[in-house]
Amino acid sequence: MSRISIHKLRECKDSGKRFAMLTAYDYPTARLVEQAGVPVILVGDSLGATVLGYESTVPVTMEEMLHHTRAVVRATKKSIVVADMPFLSYQANDDIAIENAGQFLKAGATAVKLEGGRPVVSLVHRMVEAGIPVMGHLGLTPQSVNQFGGHKVQGRTPAAAARILNDAQALEDAGVFALVLETVPEQLASMVTSRLSVPTIGIGAGVSCDAQVQVLHDILGIYDDSRILHHSKRYVNLGESIRGAIRAYADEVVEGSFPTSEHAFSMDEDVLHELTQASGSIVE
Ligand code: KIV
Repeated sequence: MSRISIHKLRECKDSGKRFAMLTAYDYPTARLVEQAGVPVILVGDSLGATVLGYESTVPVTMEEMLHHTRAVVRATKKSIVVADMPFLSYQANDDIAIENAGQFLKAGATAVKLEGGRPVVSLVHRMVEAGIPVMGHLGLTPQSVNQFGGHKVQGRTPAAAARILNDAQALEDAGVFALVLETVPEQLASMVTSRLSVPTIGIGAGVSCDAQVQVLHDILGIYDDSRILHHSKRYVNLGESIRGAIRAYADEVVEGSFPTSEHAFSMDEDVLHELTQASGSIVE
């Protein structure tokens, strides 16, 4: 079974068919996401917070991203796997950036995603020329959270909105096959979506984007089930279910009701008899 082609996403946009992208960072969850029919899996650097316990995406390394990308690739056969390029793996030097992107493709990813507008346009062009499919990412780009001074909506002033519109066009011209728009006003996302030929994938950017992306741990309520983010929707509170199940297991162990004979293995009566007879003469 071969993977869905990135060109299929453009066909979706052309025929007005929305699609979902979702993050996954490990083998079991990537399998579930693919089994649920999600065509694009993002190994997001959001794993810094959701899986590794960092405060932001900034500390995430190439090694960590590659490790998780390989697990997601092993778990899937059909879905497009997009690997996020971590902070400083592409900003300092274009040659190193292309080598790093190549490592993700060698690990089995279909494409890479990188954040930013003008400053990465020529790099995107070079990557695409080198045969590396690139997804763009504009708006609230989490690797620049320190620069933005927090998780704030981007593109609210005429100048900031115009910059996002221009950057989006420049990224499309450089060859991105899709563009994530994060935490921007829905009217702006709608304008970008109607101007671009490649699909826009929104998160906190309204319904008029061609597709949506969410962080798996947010929609399942695993990461921090005491908090629902404005741009997110929790479809199940797995955090509560998992805690309940673990508590029940631990309680049963303490009170001796698990395991029962149903979960144990027994020995043949003859062997047991022989063992009991001989036990006196067994020297350890
Ligand atoms: O890292 C991530 O999960 C992302 C999405 C939020 C788009 O970049």
